[in-house]
Order: sequence, then C-alpha cells, then structure tokens
Amino acid sequence: MDLVTKRKWDSAAATFDLMGGYGPEKRWGPRKREFFSHMRGRVLFLAVGTGLDIPFFPPERDIVGIDISAGMLEKARPRAAAYGDTLELRELDVHDLDYPDHSFDQVYTSCTFCSVPDPVRGLERLRRALKPGGELRMFEHTRSRYFPFNLMLNLMTPLSRRVGPEMNRDTVANVSRAGFERVEVRSVYLDVVKQIRAVAPAAA
Ligand SMILES: C[S@@+](CC[C@H](N)C(=O)[O-])C[C@H]1O[C@@H](n2cnc3c(N)ncnc32)[C@H](O)[C@@H]1O
Repeated sequence: MDLVTKRKWDSAAATFDLMGGYGPEKRWGPRKREFFSHMRGRVLFLAVGTGLDIPFFPPERDIVGIDISAGMLEKARPRAAAYGDTLELRELDVHDLDYPDHSFDQVYTSCTFCSVPDPVRGLERLRRALKPGGELRMFEHTRSRYFPFNLMLNLMTPLSRRVGPEMNRDTVANVSRAGFERVEVRSVYLDVVKQIRAVAPAAA
C-alpha cells in the first residue's frame, strides 16, 4: 500500500465534504445520476471517498467500493449503510487490487484519476479486473484542450497535489496507454470535466 497517498487522503477526510460536498456535488448531481444510471452486473467503484456519490447510485446494484484511505471510508460508511447491503466497502489501493482477473462487468470512477499516483498502472490493473468487453466509465476532471483553462490548471497543480489532486492529468490518453479500446469522451464542462467510456479488449 502507498502510505504517502493514504496519509494525504486520511488528512483530507475531515474537511473533504466541506470543500466538495456542497457546491460541486449539487452542481454535478443531475449529471452524476445519469452517469451512474448505467450501472449493471458486478461493479467496481474506485475510489469511493467519503461516499458523496452513493446517493446517485441506482438502487440494488452489486457494487464494491474501494478506497486507499481509511479516513475517507469512515465517512462513507453511513452513506453506504443507507444504500443497503449490496454495496460493500473495502480499504484497498488500486495498485494492489486483489480480485482475480475478469471479475467485474464494469468499473466506475469519479474524480479519481487526478489522485491515483501512477495512473497508467492503476488503469492497467482495472483493465485486468474487467471481463473481456467490460466497461470503464469515468467522470473526471482532466487537462483541457483550451489554452487559458489548461494554463490555469498547470499553475494550480503544484499546490493542489500537496493536499490532494493533480489538476492537469491527461486521463484520456492514459486510458488508451493502459490498453483500453473504443475510448469515447463527452465534455461536461469546458473540456475540463469529462465523461469517458472505454472497453477492456476481448482478448485481454
Ligand atoms: C478527489 S477524491 C474523490 C472521492 C470521490 N470519488 C468523490 O468524488 O467524492 C480522490 C479519492 O481517491 C482516493 N485514492 C487516491 N489514490 C488511490 C489509490 N491508489 N487507490 C484507491 N484509492 C485512491 C483517495 O483516498 C480519495 O478518496
């Protein structure tokens, strides 16, 4: 387990809902509800954080939510309990994923790959956990192809990475680098917030 990342997010847990739970979650709520409405089969949700996304999950889906931070998961527990017993939470680093290959029909992420330290390795691990033809669905903020926004994200990143996420990751390229196919991208906001859909190759 990557203890540096774990400690960083354990420290962020106390104030995370204050920073992210009100403005951003209210703003993206309807988009998130639509995004999660496609959950089907056995679903791996990386990184569940404090569970702010759980109220947007469709009911009675078979979901495992993992996160590297025990502090974040502690906050997520009441939200998971309110969802019901088909949602299991586990403290787990995506790099150490211990499920056999081809265990899941889908992987979901939400504002996650700004934070995972080695994104391509993390994505490769997710690809292996998916059944051949299984789906990766991501709701992520990434670098933007628009110059002024990208400049701003580049300037913010040295500071933001100390307390949490990196703002300028090229997550779309990383999905391809990790061996996913049929990568589709839908801009949600200014080509910064995006929905990404990709498929694990049939012969993986
Ligand atoms: C920006 S927060 C997002 C949390 C949640 N998805 C949300 O949108 O409210 C990033 C999350 O990624 C988790 N994380 C970072 N690196 C991880 C890793 N290697 N494995 C699992 N979780 C990780 C952190 O603990 C944190 O909860």
